[in-house]
Amino acid sequence: MCGIVGYIGNKDVKEILLSGLDTLEYRGYDSAGIYITDEKNQGHLFKEKGRIAALRDKVDESINAYSGIGHTRWATHGVPSVENAHPHQSTSGRFTIVHNGVIENFEEVKDAYLADVHFHSTTDTEVIVQLIAWFVESEELDTIDAFKKAIVTLKGSYALALVDNENPDTLYAAKNKSPLLLGTGEGFNVISSDAMAMVRETSQFIELMDGEVATLTKDSIKIEDLAGETIERDSYTAHIDANDLGKGTYPYYMIKEIDEQPAVMRKLVQQYQNEDGNLEINEDILAEVKESDRVYIVACGTSYNAGWVGKQLIERITGTPAEVHLASEFAYNTPLLTKKPFFIFLSQSGETADSRQVLVQVNKAGYPSLTLTNVPGSTLSREAKYTLLLHAGPEIAVASTKAYTAQIAVLAILAECVAKFNGVDSPLDVAHELGIIANAIETVIDDHEVFEHLSVTHLSTSKNAFYIGRGIDYYVVMEAALKLKEVSYVQAEGWASGELKHGTIALIEDNTPVISIITDEVSGPHTRGNAHEVISRGANSMIISMEGLDRQEDAYVLPKVHDLLTPLISVIPTQLIAYYTALHRGNDVDKPRNLAKSVTVE
Ligand code: G6P
Repeated sequence: MCGIVGYIGNKDVKEILLSGLDTLEYRGYDSAGIYITDEKNQGHLFKEKGRIAALRDKVDESINAYSGIGHTRWATHGVPSVENAHPHQSTSGRFTIVHNGVIENFEEVKDAYLADVHFHSTTDTEVIVQLIAWFVESEELDTIDAFKKAIVTLKGSYALALVDNENPDTLYAAKNKSPLLLGTGEGFNVISSDAMAMVRETSQFIELMDGEVATLTKDSIKIEDLAGETIERDSYTAHIDANDLGKGTYPYYMIKEIDEQPAVMRKLVQQYQNEDGNLEINEDILAEVKESDRVYIVACGTSYNAGWVGKQLIERITGTPAEVHLASEFAYNTPLLTKKPFFIFLSQSGETADSRQVLVQVNKAGYPSLTLTNVPGSTLSREAKYTLLLHAGPEIAVASTKAYTAQIAVLAILAECVAKFNGVDSPLDVAHELGIIANAIETVIDDHEVFEHLSVTHLSTSKNAFYIGRGIDYYVVMEAALKLKEVSYVQAEGWASGELKHGTIALIEDNTPVISIITDEVSGPHTRGNAHEVISRGANSMIISMEGLDRQEDAYVLPKVHDLLTPLISVIPTQLIAYYTALHRGNDVDKPRNLAKSVTVE
């Protein structure tokens, strides 16, 4: 979490930093700040609690500055406040830093080196900048050596950008675990947590690796390791269309991204089809899955929920057993593994720290791994043996929608390719079915007013709500409840409908909203029975069923799609319900409280 930017070059830096931070706001929005150096080498610090928009109002427009660093914060150490907002400065004001990550030994470092220093904030970050200043002042190190020594002393995760006001023509950067890119251009260079934030300036980026330090001037970038050895690394082109980063005519990114799902389904078919029109995936991946005796899917949040559908697809289409694990649990409570595991990491951002922690262990053990991600070049993509891209386009709303459906679609494509590679008949033609699904999603989205109305009748005032389903519908209700919680703040549970009467039904009282998803022919009648049990106890029931399984009483009937792919369609009403509930409650749909899209701390 937290986003950082830096720019040194030939243009006025204020707007570059602020619009970069606007793009990075998905990483946290508790506070924001910039530090800029003007033509007379005078430094100016601006910080504000809350959103970038508030910071923008504070920045003095009249300053012309050509170098600077900026930060948007998701608070870990210290409450959201102006004092705790980055950039942080050393006591003398000479050094200024922005940081994404968590310093685990900041208290020990403070005790060992900085007992006499007065701190202005309660952040772990201020320790870094005070430590650099201490090494410069007490040990007479020059800035780069003090920076390196601080890095060696600190434990934890960090992406850092540093300014020394005695040498303002230079920016310094370093990272460990947290992501950081360097961008290059004619007469300028940039630092950024992701490529999107600086793509308006350049499409050429260089990855910085853990344990490396970069020194940037407007005309050069020098990367070296901690021993001082220079590292040469080519830049790569980030294929991001800056136009994709806007909301267009939509009021919120979330509704734009919900609307984009039919196009994503069609794009995925194109991207994974070969010249003969058959779905194709790198045979090395297929061979490794064939070799393996069990697939382990590891993920967090919405990606974890997509993983459950993926398990079903892999098992039913390929016959290989699959398990799904929360990354944060797997890392510290590792299950007993089979002899030949194959790991799939699902991560929209490709940066989630918990998932990465597991990948590090998997790599250490030498097991094969595949990352499914929306972000080429992301950490999980670089560090896994293989990558498959989601091709969903930038997902900016904090609540994930199109990445969920894209993950399921890519897992279906993978499963079908594995089945064919193994010489097994696939029970479905995935490319054909995804075409049907794209049309079906359009039909449901066209009915958005129905879901707006249902949100008002069922969820406008309630404090809690239940989604229920069985089998594949259970997997979807887990995601439906998460979406509702994230954006509307309604306390929601996605519950296996058969489990209701084993305790949870005690919570049902007059008007408690209970939304049932019924797309499965075998278990559907049982869920309908469970819906009636809660109706008898006063619940405000809403049944969303699939054509062929519908009854008069149902609130909405979904177009029929293939049994194995029903989550791709049944999740759409639940995304719309979450969106409209949040909208009617006056919430900031795209930036729900306390959340961040990319969770880069464990
Ligand atoms: C955060 C986001 C969720 C996301 C989860 C996993 O919690 O708010 O929307 O599902 O991280 O992110 P990933 O990028 O790994 O899919």
